[in-house]
Amino acid sequence: MLLLLLLTNAFVLLPWAGAGRIIGGTEAKVHSRPYMAYLEVKNKTKSSRCGGFLIRPDAVLSAAHCMDIEKIVSVTVILGAHNISDEECSQQKISVGQWDIHPEYSREGFINDIVLLKLEQNATINEYVKCISIPKKNKHVRVGTKCNVPGWGWTSKEEDSTDVLREVKLKVQKEKICQRAFSDYEPQSMICVGDEKSKKATYKGDSGGPLVCNEKAHGIVSYGCDRNLFPEVFTRISHFEPWIHEQLKMFSLQDIPGSPSSD
Ligand SMILES: *[C@@H]1O[C@H](CO)[C@@H](O)[C@H](O)[C@H]1NC(C)=O
Ligand SMILES: *[C@@H]1O[C@H](CO)[C@@H](O)[C@H](O)[C@H]1NC(C)=O
Repeated sequence: MLLLLLLTNAFVLLPWAGAGRIIGGTEAKVHSRPYMAYLEVKNKTKSSRCGGFLIRPDAVLSAAHCMDIEKIVSVTVILGAHNISDEECSQQKISVGQWDIHPEYSREGFINDIVLLKLEQNATINEYVKCISIPKKNKHVRVGTKCNVPGWGWTSKEEDSTDVLREVKLKVQKEKICQRAFSDYEPQSMICVGDEKSKKATYKGDSGGPLVCNEKAHGIVSYGCDRNLFPEVFTRISHFEPWIHEQLKMFSLQDIPGSPSSD
């Protein structure tokens, strides 16, 4: 099984080195994906880079496995970016104050691979930074729907790097295809996605990014298989909508000084 996050040794690679792009996609139109977040999680020796997306000015959704680093010292998101290695005026770099990994997340099989990150300050919503909406509970995306996935992940199986946001169009596939390919595939909480010809895919560094179908974030890049680019598994957001709502409510409560849940 292949994890789609990028784990790099912070002492060997320079910051940002290794951040690449989607396989078989095209460069995204500049600032056409204003909900897209670049996520960096660090401890003293390692860092992981992932995608994520803004669903409220104070909240970013991503994949739980992006947080699979021991003794995290910092989690940062960059919003409004196109070229992640440039200091673009549109960029907002915000620290993540806390995060809620799904309580039933399992590394074995990537079950419930979802995390909600609370930003320390609200993002400023403008031309470059906007939220994306998520589907209601059990509003399933139809098989055959063509969706977009933006990301800064690798562009080939051999690390190949550019720093601009790329995107790829992938089709929602029948559950059977993923049930055959992955023993832990769970139809109610995962979406089976891919390009049958295996010419297009997400890859390392794309984890946590959104599967955008009909302008809503229906999925989160979760995992695939190293030998084949097809099929791939995304976390099914509609299944987690009640949980997300609950977490967002808690985030808001914490903002009220003196409320029982604020520290
Ligand atoms: C950083 O995270 C990696 C991956 O989980 C772990 O192997 C390593 O021991 C951690 N480093 C420190 C200093 O905790
Ligand atoms: C931050 O955004 C949240 C969600 O939209 C809102 O409830 C809250 O009032 C905002 N906080 C500030 C300080 O603007």
